[in-house]
Amino acid sequence: MKRIKLAYIHTRQSLDNTIILADKDQTATLEPYLEVSEFAFLNQMSTRDSTNFFFPRAEGSVFVRLFKTDKDEYADVEATRLAGNAILGELAQYKFESITILNTCEKNRALPFAEGLALGSYQFNRHFSKPDEKDAALKTIQILDPSATEAEVQEMDRLIEAVFHTRDLVNEPFSHLNAPQLADFAEKAGKEYGFSVETLEEEQIRSLKMGGLLAINQASHIPPRFSVLEYKPVNAKNEKPVVLVGKGVVYDTGGLSIKPSEGMDYMKCDMGGAAVVIGAFIAAASNQLPIHIIGLIPITDNLVGREAITPGDVITMYSGATVEVMNTDAEGRIILADALHYAKKFHPELVLDFATLTGAAVRAFGSIATCYMGNASIEVRKNIEVSGMQTYERLIEVPLWKEYGEEMKSTIADIKNLGGVSAGMITAGKFLEHFVDYPWLHFDIAGPAYVRAGSGYRTKGASGMGVRLMYDFLKRYCS
Ligand code: BES
Ligand code: ZN
Ligand code: ZN
Repeated sequence: MKRIKLAYIHTRQSLDNTIILADKDQTATLEPYLEVSEFAFLNQMSTRDSTNFFFPRAEGSVFVRLFKTDKDEYADVEATRLAGNAILGELAQYKFESITILNTCEKNRALPFAEGLALGSYQFNRHFSKPDEKDAALKTIQILDPSATEAEVQEMDRLIEAVFHTRDLVNEPFSHLNAPQLADFAEKAGKEYGFSVETLEEEQIRSLKMGGLLAINQASHIPPRFSVLEYKPVNAKNEKPVVLVGKGVVYDTGGLSIKPSEGMDYMKCDMGGAAVVIGAFIAAASNQLPIHIIGLIPITDNLVGREAITPGDVITMYSGATVEVMNTDAEGRIILADALHYAKKFHPELVLDFATLTGAAVRAFGSIATCYMGNASIEVRKNIEVSGMQTYERLIEVPLWKEYGEEMKSTIADIKNLGGVSAGMITAGKFLEHFVDYPWLHFDIAGPAYVRAGSGYRTKGASGMGVRLMYDFLKRYCS
C-alpha cells in the first residue's frame, strides 16, 4: 500500500526540513534551533498571536508551530492532530520527500501531530489512468520526540495503515468490489497481517439456512459470502472471544423499495461496517494485541431483479425467526441478524457490530458522531466512550427502551423489518436486539463512514471512522 511512513529517530539530521513544535508560553526552548534573527522575529510575532512560522533555509527549512494547551485534554490532542493535517497544505508546494517533527513541548505532541498529518495525506488515486502523477511527494515523517517511544511510533504507523485499508475498501466502487472480491480481500489481509479467515460460499450459506443473507442476495447474479475472521494470539487476555460484526452490503440500491437517484453513488459505502471490522483486525494483529477476536461479515449486494425479495414477503432467518419484510431497503438489519445469531456459537464475552444502517442516524447526528446502543455493561459503555473521546471518533448513546420496539411487531410474522417514521436508528437497533443473547453494542456509522466533503484529517469520501476507535477500545480491553 502507498502511504506516508512514520519513523522514529534519535537525533536530528540537520539537513532535514523540520517542523518544530513548541509551547507558546515557552518559546525559549526554540533558541538552540533558530538563528538569532529568526528567534527574535518569532518572539516578537508570537506576542501578536502568530502561531505558524516558516524559516526558509538553503539546507533544510524550518517550520515552527506554537501550541496553547487546551484544558480539555481530548480537544487538546485533537487540535494537535488538526495542526498536523493543516501543515500538509503548506508542505505540498515544496515537494519534500521527508520531514522531521521535532517536539519541544512539555506534552507528547509529535505523535498526534504526525497522526493528523499522515491521516490527512490519504489519497485514493488508483482509478486515474496515471495514478503516480497524482501521488504526493511526501513519503516519510521522522519523529524526534523525547517523550515518545519507538514502539509508540511503530504502533501508530501500523494503525494508520489499517485506517487506509478501511478507507480504500469504502472508496472502492461496486464495479471493483463485489461480494466475492470483498471476501477475497479479507483473506488476503489475513495472510498479510496474521489472522485467519474462513470464507463461507453460497452453498454453505444455503446449507446453514442463513435465510436473511440469502433473501437480500436473491435478485443478484453475484453470490453472497460470509467471512469469519479470527485472531487468537497465545497470550490473549480474554477467556471467551470478543466478536466484531460488520455490515457488508457492497452496494445498496434499496432493492424493489428502490432508492431515489440523488446520492445513490453514496451507497458503495454500505460495506463500511465490514471495512471497519477488517481494519480493526489489521490494526490488532499487526500490533499483536493480546486479545482473542472473531470477525463476522455477511456480504452481499442489494439489487433489483425479477427474483428480488418483495415488500410484504415473509422470510425465515438463520435463527429460525420469521420476518415480514416491509421495506427491502432495510436490508442491513436482515443480514446483520444472521451474523448476530451466528455469533452465539462462540459464547462471546462481548459483541460489537458496525453498520451504515440508517438515514435516521445521518439526519440526527450528521457525520460528526456515531450513535451507539445496546445492552453491554455500564463499564464497557464507559470505556467505549473514553475511546471515542481519545480518538475523537465521538460517540453518542441512544436508548433501546422497550416502547421503541412496539412498532416492530408484525401481525403475520415474529417481527417486521421496519419501524415508524421517527427514531429510525433506534427501531433498527430494536430489530437487531431480537437476535442477541449476549453483551452487545451496535454502532450506526451511516453518518461518519463516508462524507462528500472532507474535514480536517478525515479526507473526502471514506473516513475510516471506527478503526481507531476499535483499536483503542480493544487495547484498553486487554490491558
Ligand atoms: N444503507 C442504508 C442506510 C444509509 C443511509 C447508509 C445513508 C449511509 C448513508 C440502509 O440500508 C437503508 O437504506 N436504510 C433505510 C431504512 C428504512 C427503509 C427503514 C433508511 O434509513 O432510509
Ligand atoms: Zn438499504
Ligand atoms: Zn444499506
